[in-house]
Amino acid sequence: MTIISPSLLSANFLNLEDDIRILNKSSNLWLHLDIMDGHFVPNLTFGEPVLKKLSSITNHKLDAHFMVTNPEEYIDSFSKMNLHNFTFHWEATKHHDRLISELKKVYPSVGISLNPSTDIGLIPKYIFEKIDLILIMSVNPGFGGQSFIPSSIEKVKALKQIKEINKLSFEIQVDGGVSDKNANELREAGATNLVAGSFIFSETNRDFDKQINLLR
Ligand code: DX5
Ligand code: ZN
Repeated sequence: MTIISPSLLSANFLNLEDDIRILNKSSNLWLHLDIMDGHFVPNLTFGEPVLKKLSSITNHKLDAHFMVTNPEEYIDSFSKMNLHNFTFHWEATKHHDRLISELKKVYPSVGISLNPSTDIGLIPKYIFEKIDLILIMSVNPGFGGQSFIPSSIEKVKALKQIKEINKLSFEIQVDGGVSDKNANELREAGATNLVAGSFIFSETNRDFDKQINLLR
């Protein structure tokens, strides 16, 4: 079953607890946490204090997407947040191999995120063998509620091929503009994990489970 990762960037920050308690009733979810530093992307979100509180009120896996210029500096400080997955941006470091090795010592799952303009051909085969997840950004990172970039589907298809040829099992996650209009096509292309912010949280009656099922 496709994992759905609601992006809390679109949740109600004035009552985050309420939104998480609603999500706690759904199964097979990851909670997607967008950590932005105001440098790698032109926006700021939340960090350790919020995550610490958040991890105490949910059993869902925590999926942190670091949109930061220096991901190396977050390895230790987030190690006590009970994160399941730590995704960093390929564009944010020169030392991919070292960073992956360091992250692997601490986090059960390690992911690499690619901006829309970053080609998957830049990633050597042995890196695919080391990681647990590839995140295809289907909008330019920084904000929720943007339009899906259709060419992302080709990237997902190419990744699926890489997985099949090399018998690998990393998750293919897609983030940005995901809705019931493109979820099926993404799944057929090879996506195994769909991040959705505005599509889930903009539901008028806060029936998030309804939106999650529409994506599935
Ligand atoms: C954008 C973030 C996304 C964002 C997705 O930089 O990485 O996780 O919250 O929001 P929607 O689903 O509204 O495009
Ligand atoms: Zn994200």
